[in-house]
Amino acid sequence: MTKIILISGVPGTGKSSVSINLKKKLKNSVVLTSESFKKAIVGYDKKRKCKIIDVKIYSNELKKFLKKYHWDYVIIESLFAGEIKNKNIVSCFILRCNEKELFKRLKKRGYSKKKINENIEAELCNYCGEEAFENQKNIIEINTTRLNPKKTALKCLKYLQKK
Ligand SMILES: Nc1ncnc2c1ncn2[C@@H]1O[C@H](COP(=O)(O)OP(=O)(O)OP(=O)(O)O)[C@@H](O)[C@H]1O
Ligand SMILES: [Mg+2]
Repeated sequence: MTKIILISGVPGTGKSSVSINLKKKLKNSVVLTSESFKKAIVGYDKKRKCKIIDVKIYSNELKKFLKKYHWDYVIIESLFAGEIKNKNIVSCFILRCNEKELFKRLKKRGYSKKKINENIEAELCNYCGEEAFENQKNIIEINTTRLNPKKTALKCLKYLQKK
């Protein structure tokens, strides 16, 4: 049975870099992002400059994907990962980061002040964690502030091995 690992967190917490590192440690694994299923992209948010994903359609497409391909691990990294529904989900990691460090990471990316503040606000109210608490069973919060992507991935791996 394919094991699904969810990696959520606000932009800049390190979802993509941690997922790449985790994939290296898990045999026969694949990383899916918000945009992996074109059918689930239902629009474009001009204000936030990002695509709008329908999570129900995404979950449906994921089901089809699992039937078609036989991966041991499917890592899904997305801001909305916590909202995905599937019986094969084994863990949902919420990557967290303190305000100062997140500011630095997002500034380095060239984000506007407005966008940085929006994301810091989302982090401070634990937006991704709250979403996950409503939908997932096995939630693990990881503070990435003083870690690097490789160390964070190793932490995830440790939790996965405990299961
Ligand atoms: N402990 C850490 N874990 C993950 N990333 C970290 C860590 N420390 C620093 N970073 C850095 O933070 C930056 C943001 O990481 P990344 O692009 O993976 O975030 P993201 O959550 O995927 O963002 P987005 O939602 O915009 O795609 C990268 O430059 C990454 O190297
Ligand atoms: Mg990313």
